[in-house]
Amino acid sequence: MDKIKKHTEAAEEVSSDKRDKLLITQVLEALARTIDAKDKYTNGHSERVAIYSRMIARKLGFSDDEQDDIYYMGLLHDIGKIGVPHDLISKTSGLTDEEYLIMKNHPIVGYDILSEISTMPELAMAARWHHEYYNGEGYPDGIAGEDIPFFVRIIAVADSYDAMASNRSYRQYLPQDVIRAEMLKNSGTQFDPKVVQAMIEIMDIDVKYSLHE
Ligand SMILES: [Fe+2]
Repeated sequence: MDKIKKHTEAAEEVSSDKRDKLLITQVLEALARTIDAKDKYTNGHSERVAIYSRMIARKLGFSDDEQDDIYYMGLLHDIGKIGVPHDLISKTSGLTDEEYLIMKNHPIVGYDILSEISTMPELAMAARWHHEYYNGEGYPDGIAGEDIPFFVRIIAVADSYDAMASNRSYRQYLPQDVIRAEMLKNSGTQFDPKVVQAMIEIMDIDVKYSLHE
């Protein structure tokens, strides 16, 4: 009898763990939709970046738990956009130098928002460094190569892929071969070549080009 009770308790514990994980996932997805709701032209961007980041991570051999973590980082990478004025985010014409500087501050704002989450410091890192370049020419810190954590290099590729594979006010999502060429062109400069290689393999399997907005 005691044994049965023990098993039941263990099962309840597992299901409450599962429930907690599901709750975390759903709350973070809701937060991602909150970020994206600010800009009607990037609707669903954060969730797509999260999904693509997880696909790349799987391709690169990350464990299931690591894939989940990368998915969460993808969901929140642009949270700093909350701090960018709405009229600036939804502006369809080109930004002035001053506006561009405000826009470029969103990684720092995101970092500040997430830096208190001590259980997963990678969330704040992803927010801060997702616009860094592999060659050091990105922003805000200009860090390069292996100094950019691997998972952030994954998010950078997924982020750019989705920017090209989603509709904008002035254009439809780009053809798959154009994105493929752009990825390869920026491999080694903007992006880590290992991550680009994984993304290209994902695109090659996506023969019907279903990975777009
Ligand atoms: Fe961003």
